[in-house]
Amino acid sequence: MNRVSIIYHSETGNTSKMAELVAEGVKKAGCEAMTMSVDALNTEYIQQSRAVLFGSPTYYGTTSWQMKKLMDTISVNLEGKLGAPFASANWKGGGGYEFTEFTLIAGMLIRGMIIYTGGVTNPVPTHFGAVSAKAPEGFDAERCEQLGLNVARKVQELWPC
Ligand SMILES: Cc1cc2nc3c(=O)[nH]c(=O)nc-3n(C[C@H](O)[C@H](O)[C@H](O)COP(=O)(O)O)c2cc1C
Repeated sequence: MNRVSIIYHSETGNTSKMAELVAEGVKKAGCEAMTMSVDALNTEYIQQSRAVLFGSPTYYGTTSWQMKKLMDTISVNLEGKLGAPFASANWKGGGGYEFTEFTLIAGMLIRGMIIYTGGVTNPVPTHFGAVSAKAPEGFDAERCEQLGLNVARKVQELWPC
């Protein structure tokens, strides 16, 4: 079964709830999913994964330093894996979560990853990735699940098993 890793940083639980919802979407597409905090990585599972998603809270308009440190130092070779971001913030519009996602996207591109979110090709749009103002509820929660579903469907298309 194709594996998908969902790596997140979360201090107050909002981004970790997003990660769980992303994992639900991944499983709906028939892939295996594992969520892991930046301080408890399963490097073997990441290496075996076809896709790796990164989720971060927004700190002063960008990725948290804890997530940036992880992206700068992770020892696993991510080249050729699918990648997608998700981000939380306190405020919709102006809080900076899209900039957080682009910082994650930059890190993934530099690691040789293939970025895919599904964009607006589904009824629940995922644009640059899933975003949530504080804890994911309603449409924000739907977006998290849709992101996991989109990425896992693409995994199954690229690596049928
Ligand atoms: C140091 C710090 C900086 C923050 N900066 C922003 C910010 O620039 N914009 C924003 O909307 N929220 C900001 N927040 C709020 C967090 O992004 C938000 O509460 C997030 O959902 C927390 O995620 P977590 O519960 O996974 O830790 C900041 C929080 C902290 C602790």
